[in-house]
Amino acid sequence: MTKARAHANIALMKYWGKLDEDLALPYTSSVSLTLDALFTETEVRRDPGLKDDLFVLNGEEQPVAETGKISRFIDLFRQDSGRVRVVTRNSFPTASGLASSASGFAALATALNEEYQLGLDKKELSRLTRRGSGSASRSLFGGLAVWQKGDDKASFAYPLTAMPDMEMLIAVVSADKKKRSSRSLMKQTVQESAYFDAWVKESEREFPRMLEAIEAEDIHTIGRLAERNAMMMHATLLANHEPFFYFQPQTLQILETVQDLRETGLTAYYTLDAGPNVKIITDSGSASEILKLLRSNYPGLDVIEAKPGPEARIL
Ligand code: DP6
Repeated sequence: MTKARAHANIALMKYWGKLDEDLALPYTSSVSLTLDALFTETEVRRDPGLKDDLFVLNGEEQPVAETGKISRFIDLFRQDSGRVRVVTRNSFPTASGLASSASGFAALATALNEEYQLGLDKKELSRLTRRGSGSASRSLFGGLAVWQKGDDKASFAYPLTAMPDMEMLIAVVSADKKKRSSRSLMKQTVQESAYFDAWVKESEREFPRMLEAIEAEDIHTIGRLAERNAMMMHATLLANHEPFFYFQPQTLQILETVQDLRETGLTAYYTLDAGPNVKIITDSGSASEILKLLRSNYPGLDVIEAKPGPEARIL
């Protein structure tokens, strides 16, 4: 039996669109921050008594469709015909745009690598992890991580050494399961969005600027680039044949609050993923003040405080 833990990550420049569905090759490179507060623990046990793989998520045995996804992923590692019992638990709401698939597949890949004694290094492991969920390739690493675009061999994730003073406050507007999975919506967007080409072009143009800003530990440029990147990603959805948005009324209120806070001199920028929750990018000097203001402006709103998190590891 092997148990592993991996932390979720939030992208500062997003992955949104696959060039190759099976291999999960992205149109653009992305960069993310791994977070201490959000993690998944996964236990993998080879069980000769099982006819099929078994997948238990947060105490509930999962239906065939969900287990099938996990089985296909295990097949990338499996060394024999034996079946596996996977028991996994998230420290946070599942499938609510809080990157549970990222920490989930990173934890599972880390556990499988150990359970089958494959000895894959992090680069090789991230190439396989990518095929479970693209963003999961970045969750193998602590701090800031890049997932680079490229062909099957070249598309892997790696950690950045720079670590600016950066924290995230996650405003949980809704912890419900998201309306549309990022996977299906992403695919539809590639096929339909009038803005998809523009998204790829702008993202590629700004990516090196983001790396420069990280290197310079310039939180304001990081924040500005991240905000724009998130909004460009969401703009692609608005330009699908059937326009789609993840925002809820409170999402927009909080975005305005972030802008107001910034005008008062606090370090506050936002990013948004495939869900209505707002992730506020801030630093150690502003985080507690922003938290206080959010708690008084939005009583009852759950705000998760997150600092840079560690790499995935065996427990
Ligand atoms: C908006 O990695 O969940 O969070 O590869 O289809 O599993 P699949 O998609 P997934 O998409 C993440 C989308 C995002 C942006 C990001 O994390 O880069």
